Amino acid sequence: MERALESRGAIITGGARGIGRAIARKFSAEGAAVVLNDVDAEVGAATARELGAAFLAGDLAAPGEAERLTAFALEKVGRIDILVNNAGGGVIRPFLSHTEESIRQTIDRNLMTTIRCCRAVLPHMIERGYGRIVNIGAESVRNGLWMHAMYNAAKGGVHALTTGLAREFADRGIRVNTVAPSAVSTEMVKDMLADRDVLPAEWKVFWDKTLATIPIGRPAEMDEVADVVVFVASEKAEFVTGQVISVNGGSSML
Ligand SMILES: NC(=O)c1ccc[n+]([C@@H]2O[C@H](COP(=O)([O-])OP(=O)(O)OC[C@H]3O[C@@H](n4cnc5c(N)ncnc54)[C@H](O)[C@@H]3O)[C@@H](O)[C@H]2O)c1
Repeated sequence: MERALESRGAIITGGARGIGRAIARKFSAEGAAVVLNDVDAEVGAATARELGAAFLAGDLAAPGEAERLTAFALEKVGRIDILVNNAGGGVIRPFLSHTEESIRQTIDRNLMTTIRCCRAVLPHMIERGYGRIVNIGAESVRNGLWMHAMYNAAKGGVHALTTGLAREFADRGIRVNTVAPSAVSTEMVKDMLADRDVLPAEWKVFWDKTLATIPIGRPAEMDEVADVVVFVASEKAEFVTGQVISVNGGSSML
């Protein structure tokens, strides 16, 4: 059977664990040559070994790191057809509890990594007249989840970058989309949900209310997010660009 990403070269950022690792596994199974990045050198290298991917450690919020990753990917796999901007993660807390440091971390991890990687990889995609950029956004931008205002400021920037880039590069064979999950059953989320009674009170309330927003009644599996990323990165999505595609169990509709 034909594989969806046969012979494609792909960078997946923040791929050491969680959703990024699930995406990397699916991409490899669909025939892509995968280059992983993560700021966590040890876990990133172990994941890359397990999946047969190339790996470069680096903090993509730092100037120059995205360019270093792009050069590394070209050396290892010769082409970058797909960039998945997955690196991120929230510093989730009430808006007024943020500090200067946690604000900077939230913006750096989610928005700056995405901006820097797009700027580093796009010249190569333009030269080849082909590219698929898939950003990982968040349903919380849409439904205004509790304690997520700062995270939403960063992920909202990612959603906005998506529409601007999609328009700017549509005539160069480049498609830019965001896949936006609601709660996902990563290792960390599973641990929290396994024993809600031991969570701090505000987190217990947070999860009770959050799960109640999802008509399907549970968080997404990581593979359910990864499957949508594979589709958007594939030839089948040639006419899809500038979209924020929700994988949210119905937590917002339309
Ligand atoms: N888990 C969820 O419920 C959920 C929901 C919506 C969106 N998301 C988004 O999905 C993506 C993956 O999340 P996850 O839950 O798998 O998180 P995770 O923490 O398990 O994985 C994120 C990875 O990104 C890496 N990373 C963070 N900052 C980096 C940087 N500056 N440079 C390089 N690597 C960096 C981390 O080391 C980590 O390995 C994130 O963008 C997150 O915001 C997650």
